[in-house]
Amino acid sequence: MHSSPDSAVRPKVALVTGASRGIGLATARLLAGRGYRVVISARGEEGLAEAADQLRPFAPGLCHCAADATDPAAVARLMGLIQQRCGRLDVLINNAGGSHHGRPLDAMSPEDWELTLRQNLTAASLACRAALPFLKVQGGAIVNVASLAGRQRSLVAACDYAAAKAGLIGFTRQLALELAPWQIRVNAIAPGLTGTERVDGRWQDLPEDERRSRLAAIPMGRAGRPSEIAEAISFLASDAASYITGATLDVNGGAFMG
Ligand SMILES: NC(=O)c1ccc[n+]([C@@H]2O[C@H](COP(=O)([O-])OP(=O)(O)OC[C@H]3O[C@@H](n4cnc5c(N)ncnc54)[C@H](OP(=O)(O)O)[C@@H]3O)[C@@H](O)[C@H]2O)c1
Repeated sequence: MHSSPDSAVRPKVALVTGASRGIGLATARLLAGRGYRVVISARGEEGLAEAADQLRPFAPGLCHCAADATDPAAVARLMGLIQQRCGRLDVLINNAGGSHHGRPLDAMSPEDWELTLRQNLTAASLACRAALPFLKVQGGAIVNVASLAGRQRSLVAACDYAAAKAGLIGFTRQLALELAPWQIRVNAIAPGLTGTERVDGRWQDLPEDERRSRLAAIPMGRAGRPSEIAEAISFLASDAASYITGATLDVNGGAFMG
């Protein structure tokens, strides 16, 4: 088991963005089970409240706050709530993001490009910046959720998404360098195809031969489970990774071996 936070005094506080479903929800569940006090956020209030209801029985002190991770004012309100309710922040998981289209460059609008960059790159920088006053007090860990698309190439994502996730990996390395003197570690994970509800829904609509060829590109022959991605995030956030910073961990069933 990964080392648990020292809960003898006060539990460590972890913020997971984009935690109303998918990888974020699985991560929040795992971190709560490992003794963190968890704060979850997403844009949609209803989905977030449902996620909070699911987590609450085994997540003491759980807080949830609807916030668009691309909106600096909303991020500031979220950090204000953390200050008020928890008084500290030890771990930041920048998970909010995703791709909202799969169009080639010449069919993509400037607004598509901007939105993808804001959701998958700018949002992480906003949260990191807003979290620094907390993290600089006692040190901590940031984990950015990138993608195989930003590590190598994607069979499905568009180039704005690949650019944003590759940018997030560069951001991770440079920020790790900047924050090392404060004992703040900054790492990323790069998941491959992961069977969240959203991905499963789209998967069912694909023709059989397309599904087969996508699975053939994964040596382990299957998509990852959200809980498997959450394990990698939890490891990088934990003291078990206390000397790891600036790294990107591939979690992809062998689809890309860096
Ligand atoms: N699933 C995969 O195959 C895969 C592979 C590689 C990387 N990833 C990355 O892993 C992360 C999670 O993916 P997922 O598949 O779990 O996605 P998902 O199931 O679509 O969940 C996304 C979560 O993020 C929230 N969210 C989206 N945009 C947001 C914003 N601007 N501000 C705040 N919250 C926001 C969503 O809630 P609201 O819509 O209510 O805001 C939801 O809670 C993403 O960064 C994605 O790029 C996923």
